[in-house]
Amino acid sequence: MSKRIVVAISGASGAIYGLRLLQMLHQQQVHCDLIVSPSGWLTIDQELPGQRQAILDLAAEHHAFRNIGASIASGSFAHDGMVIAPCSMKTLAAIAHGFADNLMTRAADVTLKERRRLILLARETPLHLVHLRNMATVTEMGGIVFPPLPAFYHRPESIDDLVSHSCAHVMELLGLSPTDRPRWQGLNNQGQDSS
Ligand SMILES: Cc1cc2nc3c(=O)[nH]c(=O)nc-3n(C[C@H](O)[C@H](O)[C@H](O)COP(=O)(O)O)c2cc1C
Repeated sequence: MSKRIVVAISGASGAIYGLRLLQMLHQQQVHCDLIVSPSGWLTIDQELPGQRQAILDLAAEHHAFRNIGASIASGSFAHDGMVIAPCSMKTLAAIAHGFADNLMTRAADVTLKERRRLILLARETPLHLVHLRNMATVTEMGGIVFPPLPAFYHRPESIDDLVSHSCAHVMELLGLSPTDRPRWQGLNNQGQDSS
C-alpha cells in the first residue's frame, strides 16, 4: 500500500519547499493530505504567483484550515508522517505549546502524541530566545526541526538545486529513499596540508 503523508504550508517565506515536496511525493505516488494556512496562501501568491491550483492538484486531499473535524485531526487516523514546509514561528510556537486551534496545529499535535514523524521546515532569521526554546521543546517531544538551510558542497547552480537538495533530505527522513540527493564522498586528502 502506498504511504500517506500530511503536508502543510504555513505563512513563512519558502512556499517553494512545500511545492517541491508535494512534487517529490507525487512522483513516488504517495497519498498527500494538504493543509494551507491563510498566511500560507498569502506567501504562495507572493512567492509562487499563479501556482495555487498546481499545488492543490498535487494533493490527493485538501483539508480546510479551520476544519477541525477532518480525518487528520484524529489520532485514530493512521498516516506515515507530517511535514510543515515552510513552518512559521507562530505555528512552531503553537505546536510547542499544544495549542491546537486550527487543523494544521491539531494535526501536528496528534502526530506527536501518536509518536509519528513530524518534520518542521522552520524558517525565520535571526532567531530570538523564544524561537529557540520552542524548537528545543518540539525536539524534546520527538519532532524534527529542519530549518531549510542550503548546503553548498554539492555546488548548486540554481535555487531549484538548493530547494531540491533540502526536500530530498526530508524525503529520506520520511523513509522515502532512495533519492538522488547528492552525497558527500569525502575529500580524498585534497583538503589536508593546504595551509
Ligand atoms: C511575505 C511574508 C513572508 C513571511 N515570512 C515569514 C517567515 O519567514 N517566518 C515567519 O515565522 N513568519 C513569516 N511571516 C509572518 C507569518 O505569515 C505570520 O506570523 C502568520 O501569522 C503565520 O500564520 P500561520 O503560521 O498560521 O501560517 C511572513 C508573512 C508574509 C506576508
